[in-house]
Amino acid sequence: MTTQRDNSSVVRRSLLGVLPVVALGACRSDVPPASPPAPVAAGGGRPLHGGAGPDGVRQAGVDRPAQPQAHAVVSVYDLPPEAGSARVAAAALGEAVLELTGSRAGAALGVEAGDLTVTVGLGPRMVGAAGRGLPGGLDLPAFAREERTARTWGGDLLVQVCASDPVALALADTRLAGVLAAEGVSGRWSQAGFRPPGGGPVRNLLGFPDGIENPRTRPELDREVWLDGPGPLAGGTVAVVRRLRIDVTGFLAQSASRQEEAIGRRKADGAPLSGGAASARLDLLAKTARGGYLVPAMAHARRANPNATGSGRMLRRGYSYRNGPEDQGLLFLSFQRRLRTFTATQRRLDDGDDLMRFVTATASGAFFVPRASTPERPFGSGLLGEQG
Ligand code: HEM
Repeated sequence: MTTQRDNSSVVRRSLLGVLPVVALGACRSDVPPASPPAPVAAGGGRPLHGGAGPDGVRQAGVDRPAQPQAHAVVSVYDLPPEAGSARVAAAALGEAVLELTGSRAGAALGVEAGDLTVTVGLGPRMVGAAGRGLPGGLDLPAFAREERTARTWGGDLLVQVCASDPVALALADTRLAGVLAAEGVSGRWSQAGFRPPGGGPVRNLLGFPDGIENPRTRPELDREVWLDGPGPLAGGTVAVVRRLRIDVTGFLAQSASRQEEAIGRRKADGAPLSGGAASARLDLLAKTARGGYLVPAMAHARRANPNATGSGRMLRRGYSYRNGPEDQGLLFLSFQRRLRTFTATQRRLDDGDDLMRFVTATASGAFFVPRASTPERPFGSGLLGEQG
C-alpha cells in the first residue's frame, strides 16, 4: 500500500445537532505488555474492538496493539467552518467508526475486520476554540527542512486506520473518507504506510531497527503518553504526524560505519554504539580510550535522547511509506502528553543531526486524540461540543 490520496469533495447534509454514541477503536484491555510484544497473528490478527470500561478507555492505535499492525493509512481533513456542521460531521464519523470497530465490523466491511483500529484526533483550530492552552490546541512551529504546502500542513481532523489485513484497512478507510465527504469535510492529504512483519522493533527503509527506545510499561505510558485528571482531556494524548521524505540513496551511499555513526546504533541488531544488548539504552557518557564519545555528538539517537533534549519521552509508532524511488521515507507518528516533547526534540535535531541532513518534511500536523467515547461522553465532548 503505497498510495497517496488527495480528496477535496464537499457535500452537504442536514444538521443533527448531536454527537454520536461511539467507542472509537476501543480495546478490551488497557494494559500493554511490559516487554516487546509477540507478533500479531497471521490472518488478520486478534479482534481489538470492544466496549468502554466504567471509567472510559483510551483510544486504540496508540499503545494497543503494542506491536503496531503491518499496515496503516493516515488521513487529514478539514471540518466545515460552521460549528454545527462540524458537529454533524463528527457525528457521522463517530457512527462509522463505531460500525467499523464494533462487533459487527465484518458485516459492515464485507471482510473480516481482524485487528483493525481507527484512531481519531482533533486539530488545533477545534481544540483551541475550547481553550488555547489545552494540549493539542497549538499548531506546530516552523522547523528546518520543510516543504510546506497549504494542503499538507495542519488540519482539523486526524484519522489513522491500522490493520494487519491491507484489504480490511482499505475498505475501512474508503468508507470513512466517503462518510466525511458526504458531510462536507474536505480531505487534505492521506498517506499509506507499512511495517515489516515481526515482533519488537522492525527495520525502516534505511535498514536500521527502529522503535527500540520507546515507553512500553504501563507506568511509563501513563507518565509519558496519556493525560489524566478530571475533565475532557483525561484519557487523551497529543499526536504528531509528519511525512518525512528520506534521501535513501544519499544515506546508503555512506559507508556502513558512517551510517551507524549517524544513527548511534548498529545496523545489524540495533545495539547502541556505547555497548550492550540491542534493547539497551544509550550510554551518552561512554568514551573511547582517546576521549571521544562512543555515540557521536551528531548521532540521531543521541540528539533525540530525552536527556539531551530536556523533554519527556514520546511513543513513536511510525510506518515506512513509499510513493516511488523519489518519495519514500517515514510516516512519523508520535504520541505524548504534551506538544513540547516533540517540539523540543525536533528543535534539537534541527540544530544538528547526521540523519536529519537526509530528511525533508512534506506533510505535518499536531492533533489532540481524546479518550474513547461512551454513551455519556460522545466524541469530542468538552471540546467540539463547546463551539456554539
Ligand atoms: C526519517 C526520519 C527518522 C528516522 C529514519 C529515524 C530513525 C531512528 C532510529 C533508527 C533510531 C534508533 C533506534 C530506536 O531507538 O528506535 C531512532 C531513535 C529515536 N528517534 Fe528517530 N528517526 C527519524 C526521525 C525522528 C524524529 C522527527 C524524531 C522526533 C522529533 C525522532 C525521535 C527519536 C527518538 C526520541 C529516538 C530515541 C532516542 C533515544 O535513544 O533515547 N526521530 N530514530
